[in-house]
Amino acid sequence: MNQEEPRIAIVYATEQGSTRDIAEFISDELAGRDAIVELADIDHAPDLSRFDTLVLGSAVHDMDFLPAATEYVHAHRDELSSRNVWLFSVGLAPALRGPIGRAAGRFVPKKIATLRDSIAARDYHAFAGRYERAGISPHTRILYRLMGGGHYGDLRDWAAIRAWTDTIAQSLRLPKSHSTTIHP
Ligand SMILES: Cc1cc2nc3c(=O)[nH]c(=O)nc-3n(C[C@H](O)[C@H](O)[C@H](O)COP(=O)(O)O)c2cc1C
Repeated sequence: MNQEEPRIAIVYATEQGSTRDIAEFISDELAGRDAIVELADIDHAPDLSRFDTLVLGSAVHDMDFLPAATEYVHAHRDELSSRNVWLFSVGLAPALRGPIGRAAGRFVPKKIATLRDSIAARDYHAFAGRYERAGISPHTRILYRLMGGGHYGDLRDWAAIRAWTDTIAQSLRLPKSHSTTIHP
């Protein structure tokens, strides 16, 4: 192992898989730029002593990280506070449009902000995930539309995810990406 290469753990908490896809994409991008990367579901998170950087992602439910992600941060607060931690969330808010929707998309839910600040995370970014129409009540559909949500399905913005990954790579002084893959 080349000791010069940064060691990055990428850990995700997902309910329906879209956060895992994003974590996989970030992992592939960083591994392709000469970092040593380990990707894991939060229930199988690696021992952090082997890593200097953690990228932690969670789906958003009810304006909070999934319980497994919140519990993980609480349980490892000291280790996380002494490392570079990059947090991301995956929800529907960043996909909202119009003045109200964009304001809602920029708003960081209080519980997530508190968690972010408790470990002095290097950065936090909210990405759009998947939002399936099936199973959504008529009341929630109307609310979604009023908030500026027009679309259902896969709302992920891979260019935004790539740009954030690039920010992480640049902060670690990794070489430029050779990849031209635009994720589906
Ligand atoms: C029960 C439930 C609650 C949700 N609450 C929120 C929320 O408060 N804010 C938000 O932006 N998205 C919310 N969402 C949307 C999900 O975060 C979105 O579908 C995301 O893609 C899920 O990620 P996953 O596929 O990794 O589980 C909610 C979804 C469900 C099923």
